Amino acid sequence: MRIDILTLFPNMMSMFFEESILSRAQKKGLAEVHLHNLHDYSLTRYGSVDDYPYGGSAGMVMAVEPLANCIEKLQGERHYDEVIYTAPDGEMFDQPMANSLSLKENIIILCGHYKGVDERLREHFITKEISIGDYVLTGGELAAAVISDAVIRLLPGVIGDEQSALEDSFQDGLLAPPEYTRPVEFRGWKVPDVLLSGNHAKIEQWRFDQALERTRQRRPDLYDGFMEKLTTIEPKDLEPEPGTFEPEPREYICMYGPPETDFNPQIGNGFLDE
Ligand code: ADE
Repeated sequence: MRIDILTLFPNMMSMFFEESILSRAQKKGLAEVHLHNLHDYSLTRYGSVDDYPYGGSAGMVMAVEPLANCIEKLQGERHYDEVIYTAPDGEMFDQPMANSLSLKENIIILCGHYKGVDERLREHFITKEISIGDYVLTGGELAAAVISDAVIRLLPGVIGDEQSALEDSFQDGLLAPPEYTRPVEFRGWKVPDVLLSGNHAKIEQWRFDQALERTRQRRPDLYDGFMEKLTTIEPKDLEPEPGTFEPEPREYICMYGPPETDFNPQIGNGFLDE
């Protein structure tokens, strides 16, 4: 997958992609991230890409022409599945959106700034507008980083344990259950006995119960949605459509028994990476 990020601050963004899992994903050739400096597309002597808003309100607006030039240059080189614009008034980013973006081949992310971009750019070039939350950031760079991170980690081979991406919070509509690692006892605080039992069915049941309870307490909105889905779900609905990202619901995992892994009573089925 290739992500092209159009930003006024490429140096700030590059640090983010040069560390840890995102850097490894690129070295392995699983993801390519290209940063483009929007100042390079400026039509002024000073390298600016913003201008005063028509109608006389406060603040500056990113001009349509330099941004359109940058997008069209890239589109002349390859096909892009989405041209994303990060803005607080966009569609709220969530796990299903990350899942569906992870199936794309090439995407552009334009980081918004100032008062935003000229509306004509949104109308004629942007195919998707994304907000990462109901708050206003100084620019779209952090949003682009959040989106890229959430998407890249879903690409096959990026995180060591394939199954663990499917078991993330939100993948099945529930928050993830608590996790423990060594030591088995710290300051008298013990790892729950069931995790040391070696009984896969019991462990899966415990994890499901914990995830359900945690979701009920912390995210009643998700809990209600999950319970509603449970009452209407048919086993055939659990079959993924070809080409779509459909994680296995936890209940199904329970019904079909434990995953085939080497069990170590000290660390349970934990995956110790790095
Ligand atoms: N730019 C400024 N605030 C933002 C937000 N909440 N989400 C995405 N882009 C933004």
